[in-house]
Amino acid sequence: METHRSSPVEVTPYSALALYYDQVMEHVNYHQWANYVKILFRYSNRSVRRVGDLACGTGSLLRFMKGFKRQAFGFDLSLPMLKQAQKKLLKVPLTCADFLNLPLKPLSLDAALVLYDSINYLHTETEILQFFSEVHLSLRSGGIFIFDIVTPYLCSTVFKHYEEQGMLDENNRYERKSFFIEEKQIQVNQFKIWINGRIYEEEHRQKIWDIDHWQELIKNSPFKLVKIFSNFTLKPAHEKSERAHFVLIKKSRK
Ligand SMILES: C[S@@+](CC[C@H](N)C(=O)[O-])C[C@H]1O[C@@H](n2cnc3c(N)ncnc32)[C@H](O)[C@@H]1O
Repeated sequence: METHRSSPVEVTPYSALALYYDQVMEHVNYHQWANYVKILFRYSNRSVRRVGDLACGTGSLLRFMKGFKRQAFGFDLSLPMLKQAQKKLLKVPLTCADFLNLPLKPLSLDAALVLYDSINYLHTETEILQFFSEVHLSLRSGGIFIFDIVTPYLCSTVFKHYEEQGMLDENNRYERKSFFIEEKQIQVNQFKIWINGRIYEEEHRQKIWDIDHWQELIKNSPFKLVKIFSNFTLKPAHEKSERAHFVLIKKSRK
C-alpha cells in the first residue's frame, strides 16, 4: 500500500493533527472543563462579559463560554486549528495570532483563558513575562486570567514514556510517542499521522516548570495571584498535582 511507502513529511505542530484533533481528544470532557472555568470566574473582581480564549484550538471549550450577556473571542497560532473551530463557532470572532503579540485593544477583555497546557509551549522566562504583560494590557481592571499547566510530576510519571495509537477513520490513523527529558524539563510529544496515503510528523515540545517556579514568575508580573488549584478541584495544588490551574487578577487601579 502506498501509505507505507511514502516517506514522512515533517510539519509544524497542529497543522496535520488539526484535522483529527477532536477525535484524538475525544476523552476530554470540555463541557465539564468549561463549567469548572465558570466556577473560577467567581474569583473575578468584575462581571465576566467578554472572554478571550487565547489558545482556543478547535474551539471545543470556547463554544461553552458564550451565553447570556457573555461574548466569546477565540485566538490561536494555528490556522488549521481555527478552521476546525470555525465549523462549530459560527458566530464567535476567531483570529489567528501568536499570544505573545495579541491583536487586542487594551482593556478589551474581562477574562483571558489559556487552557490545556497551551502556556507550556512558551520555553523561556522572558517569553512568559512578555505574555503576562500582553494579557495584562488586554484585560480590564479587576479582570481575571486563568491558565493551567502540566506539572513535572505528571510528565515524570504518566508521560515519561507514553505511547498510544488509534484509527482516525477507515483509512487513516495516528501514533503518539511521548517522553520527558528530565534534565531539561522538556516534554516531547511526537505525532505520526497517516492521511490519505501520506505520512505527517509533528513534534511538540513543552517546557515544564514546577509550581514554585511559576509562582516566582508571577511575582515578577503585574498580576496578583489569587489561587493555584489542583486537578479541576478547588483544593490547593501540590507536588503531586497532575495539572495546576492558576487564577490571577489584574489589580484594580487605586
Ligand atoms: C493542547 S492545544 C489546546 C487547545 C485548546 N485550548 C483545547 O483545550 O483543546 C494547544 C494550543 O495552543 C496553541 N498555541 C501554542 N503556542 C501558541 C502561541 N504562541 N500563540 C497562540 N496559540 C498557541 C496551539 O496552536 C494549540 O491550538
